[in-house]
Amino acid sequence: MSTEQQGGQKTAGASKVAPATGKLGVMVIGLGAVATTMIAGVEAVRRGLAKPIGSLTQMGTIRLGKRTDNTSPLIKDFVPLADLNDIVFTGWDIFEDNVYESAAHAKVLDEKTLLQLKPYLETIKPMPAVFDQYYVKRLHGTHVKQGKNKRDLADQVIADIRAFKKTVDRVVMIWCGSTEIFIVPSAVHQSIKAFEDGLESNDIGISPSQIYAYAALSEGVPFANGAPNLTVDALALLELSKLNSAPVCGKDFKTGQTFMKTILAPALKARMIGVRGWFSDNILGNRDGEVLDDPESFKTKEESKLGSLEYIFQPELYPDLYKDLYHKIRINYYPPRGDDKEAWDNIDIFGWLGYPMQIKLNFLCRDSILAAPLALDLVLFLDLAKRTPELRSLGVQEWLSFYLKSPQTAPGLYPEHDLFIQSMKLKNTLRHIMGQDLITHLGLEYYD
Ligand SMILES: NC(=O)c1ccc[n+]([C@@H]2O[C@H](COP(=O)([O-])OP(=O)(O)OC[C@H]3O[C@@H](n4cnc5c(N)ncnc54)[C@H](O)[C@@H]3O)[C@@H](O)[C@H]2O)c1
Repeated sequence: MSTEQQGGQKTAGASKVAPATGKLGVMVIGLGAVATTMIAGVEAVRRGLAKPIGSLTQMGTIRLGKRTDNTSPLIKDFVPLADLNDIVFTGWDIFEDNVYESAAHAKVLDEKTLLQLKPYLETIKPMPAVFDQYYVKRLHGTHVKQGKNKRDLADQVIADIRAFKKTVDRVVMIWCGSTEIFIVPSAVHQSIKAFEDGLESNDIGISPSQIYAYAALSEGVPFANGAPNLTVDALALLELSKLNSAPVCGKDFKTGQTFMKTILAPALKARMIGVRGWFSDNILGNRDGEVLDDPESFKTKEESKLGSLEYIFQPELYPDLYKDLYHKIRINYYPPRGDDKEAWDNIDIFGWLGYPMQIKLNFLCRDSILAAPLALDLVLFLDLAKRTPELRSLGVQEWLSFYLKSPQTAPGLYPEHDLFIQSMKLKNTLRHIMGQDLITHLGLEYYD
């Protein structure tokens, strides 16, 4: 028995994961920049026009056994994931544009690429959305469902899900819609009963994203949240997720600046380097940037972005290094940049005997190019979770924290933000469900 493979945690035994047979239906809420980049990208990969760069499910490998075994299959060959050719997309938006028109408007992908994919992209037309401008101040929706109350709207989404289910074998839902205003959990979020009463009485605490999530979870459909909205981060919806074996994960794609933060911060901490301040600035000019220009939507995003450093640095354990850390985040809407976001970080650090130093980070990224593969991976892994008896009734899939700015956990657990711990957790979860030994990197046996 290898010691690098943790002795006490051997999980040998045949995998009980059901195969990914048939079509996987993906219901996307919000067919904007991220969603259309994901959909167009999947089609481009299916046609052999491009590689799925940035997608762990498509390009990543996983080591099995000892380092000397030289066994590192592709993740998609190791776990039974849906094949990209078996994915069928549909979705909702508050605008009537089909996916081609919306992608052209978002200007993430170039015209040449889009024209090649046009006949397919044009076939995906959004269903009318559940929308209320109270929750996203900067948008004026025209393609929206009408209903006598929020219960009625949830029922209409349930009808959409049921109709789609007739055409595919399994369904996953993902929120790629705009960032809603900041909502603090209230009484209506505390139980399924309270939430259902709230749907009837049009409780203001229930946002459109929660209406979709309620519909999905009621129908046993896994739900991912790419935005920082409260959505399934509420007891009532978590209860529903467990009850109906409809897995959920944390929220807000971890793409640009926070991705960098959760790489750099663990490295500084691992070397016991102190940090006095971390100032993060952003400019972006896409519709997401416009929505985030509204203070109420920005607050939701700010909360999501702020959490990572606090948890990674653990100032309560390392007061000399991180107790007074000043963390500031700014997002500026700057139309000329479109989706090509630019982020600056100034990090004031200190080393041996307290001597100060600085790090300047300037990330010129493409927001949706970074987010699209994460959306795809979340969809595929949630579908896997649904087919895995050991995972499907857990509610939150903490092993998917790797993809998210705001991981969700079981009550009482602090979230793990360190990207490398998250990556190990994800891969060990895959090994575990497939009956393989976990890898701890101890490795003493190589020196026997
Ligand atoms: N791109 C990134 O790197 C990234 C990273 C983290 C999080 N996000 C989040 O992902 C979400 C999508 O980002 P984007 O750049 O695609 O934004 P976008 O504005 O291009 O697209 C959002 C789409 O959602 C639609 N929408 C809004 N409310 C809706 C509703 N209630 N029902 C249906 N459709 C609705 C809008 O009409 C729009 O088409 C945003 O919340 C953003 O904050 C993006």
